[in-house]
Amino acid sequence: MAVHEILKMGDPRLLRIAQPVTKFDSDDLHLLITDMLDTMRAANGAGLAAPQIGVDLQLVIFGSNDSNPRYPDRPAVPPTVLINPTVAPIGTEEESDWEGCLSVPGLRAVVPRWSRIRYTGFDQYGDPIDRTVDGFHARVVQHECDHLMGLLYPMRVRDFTQFGYTAVLFPGIAATEDD
Ligand code: NI
Repeated sequence: MAVHEILKMGDPRLLRIAQPVTKFDSDDLHLLITDMLDTMRAANGAGLAAPQIGVDLQLVIFGSNDSNPRYPDRPAVPPTVLINPTVAPIGTEEESDWEGCLSVPGLRAVVPRWSRIRYTGFDQYGDPIDRTVDGFHARVVQHECDHLMGLLYPMRVRDFTQFGYTAVLFPGIAATEDD
């Protein structure tokens, strides 16, 4: 088990356009994913992108099958390894909801996202993934895939009156989370 340091906003490595993964089902790739899972679980995250631990690859993990103390009222998202993803909106509907990010500790904001998306990519074995999803699942995918384009959620915020410290906005939640 190897829990990595999570880079914080301001680190230029979070602003890069990530490189595609070219070799699947390799020892290096499996080790990277294991480390990312360990790191995400240790931080009670709903997702983690490889650039957040300084790895310049198009790889994200996300999902929560049981109660995540950072998002106690959110529906479960299937645990997923997603490599070289594409994300496209279905329709033009957007919805706004609260987001946080392990690279932006202690803060939350209301962020607009596409309500419904189709995403594609590959798992760690090179098998294709092609899903149409909505709601929180769609939000998590858009948030994580933004990391692969050098985008952090504060760059998506439109209403800065709904951006603040978790401990102030949600005193109950803040007591159970790490950041
Ligand atoms: Ni994030």
